[in-house]
Amino acid sequence: MGRFPKWKRALALFTVIATIKPSVNAKRNRYIVPGAPWYDTGGNVLSAHAGGIVEHDGKWYWFGQNERAEDKDLFSGINVYSSPDLLNWDFEGKALSSINGTVIGPDTVVERPKAVFNQETQTWVLWFHSDNSTYGLLRQGVATSPNITGPYAFQEVFSPLGGTSQDFGLFHDVDHDASYALYSNGDADAAHDNLISRMNSTFTGVEEVVYEFPDFDLEAPTMFFSGSRYYILMSHKTGYRPNNVVVFSAEKLAGPWSAQSYIATLGTRTFNSQSTMIISVKGSDQSTFLYCGDQWTTAKDLYLSTYVWLPMKFNDDTGALHVEWHDLYSIDVKTGSITVPQGTSYEAEHGEVTGLAYTTLCVIQGNGTLTISNIEGTGQPQWVSIYYHNPDGKCMLE
Ligand SMILES: *[C@@H]1O[C@H](CO)[C@@H](O)[C@H](O)[C@H]1NC(C)=O
Ligand SMILES: *[C@@H]1O[C@H](CO)[C@@H](O)[C@H](O)[C@H]1NC(C)=O
Ligand SMILES: *[C@@H]1O[C@H](CO)[C@@H](O)[C@H](O)[C@H]1NC(C)=O
Ligand SMILES: *[C@@H]1O[C@H](CO)[C@@H](O)[C@H](O)[C@H]1NC(C)=O
Ligand SMILES: *[C@@H]1O[C@H](CO)[C@@H](O)[C@H](O)[C@H]1NC(C)=O
Repeated sequence: MGRFPKWKRALALFTVIATIKPSVNAKRNRYIVPGAPWYDTGGNVLSAHAGGIVEHDGKWYWFGQNERAEDKDLFSGINVYSSPDLLNWDFEGKALSSINGTVIGPDTVVERPKAVFNQETQTWVLWFHSDNSTYGLLRQGVATSPNITGPYAFQEVFSPLGGTSQDFGLFHDVDHDASYALYSNGDADAAHDNLISRMNSTFTGVEEVVYEFPDFDLEAPTMFFSGSRYYILMSHKTGYRPNNVVVFSAEKLAGPWSAQSYIATLGTRTFNSQSTMIISVKGSDQSTFLYCGDQWTTAKDLYLSTYVWLPMKFNDDTGALHVEWHDLYSIDVKTGSITVPQGTSYEAEHGEVTGLAYTTLCVIQGNGTLTISNIEGTGQPQWVSIYYHNPDGKCMLE
């Protein structure tokens, strides 16, 4: 035990955690494991990228981009999954499928789907970013269905308030039954702004910009309301490479909004993820808010991308917010509590390096083998988490 494969390339910080929690029933997920492939109840890898989550009648519904090896970043449908506990997900099928020869054809871009229920029309509305393959149109789109899982009927794509829209986030202010489109207005010279725009009463169009973050040049927006404060999270624009996601907070959506601050330990690039949605679990004991990000691979192999879901801690008096890393944890959606299994950490720096690999102040690099000895096992099946990070030559101490 404790012998690791040869490095493919210069590498990083390394931690091993062995947790004493054998899985009793392998078919049921008991933990959220940030960054690991996530299997649905049918045994298939969950494909719900850049997603959105809603709660309805005691169940959670996760909408996201279907990604296959052959898609190369283009539209092959929006998947929807349901779950009673946020851990185990049933595949409910395609919420929206591509339609040949239309603006949601298999040669187009349909991204960042988010669903919301409209009371007035008793209709589910599925919003998304709509584009052509070179991202030259920058529009929003909607599809509707009487049923949460669809299939959704495509309605239209449009330029919100005559403007452009890049990425897409949706915030349903349940307390005031209003919904907002969150988006950036693109990379043209006059753009680079981030907008919060109120939807009209049917939630099928945008009627007014409520706030604009001028020249902030961020993307991948997601928002939640804590009960007294609004928080909006956005990432920088670095393509599919992760960066340090920032948060702003305000008592009113129209502002004033706070200055921005980072949500995760600097240097981790938000634990290698980009913001997409926030899950608000209003439990009997506590409210828990999960940051949900995408751990993207490259545009060519998006289907290998995984999900990073982590609990957030924040302070409504100061607006400070940070995401806490856990190798694995469980959430009880009834009580809202988070349980983190305890384990033993082994630092890679204390391991034995052979071959061409060598250790410097805080990184292990080169092509070789790292052996960590004396890892204690229980004799039972148990979790082993391996955490590594590529700091691209920059040391990340602590
Ligand atoms: C859509 O186009 C593809 C590729 O040309 C074709 O294989 C498929 O049958 C078409 N689907 C429909 C519903 O026409
Ligand atoms: C996408 O739309 C832009 C703006 O109309 C256009 O310049 C570009 O050629 C389009 N790309 C494709 C692949 O059609
Ligand atoms: C919605 O769900 C109901 C009940 O499952 C079903 O009878 C109906 O056909 C569904 N409607 C659509 C449009 O899928
Ligand atoms: C909301 O906007 C959409 C798109 O423009 C439009 O079809 C719909 O009728 C609007 N709803 C209301 C209540 O104005
Ligand atoms: C690492 O070393 C092994 C042999 O020990 C070799 O097969 C492999 O190609 C090397 N990888 C790189 C990236 O140099």
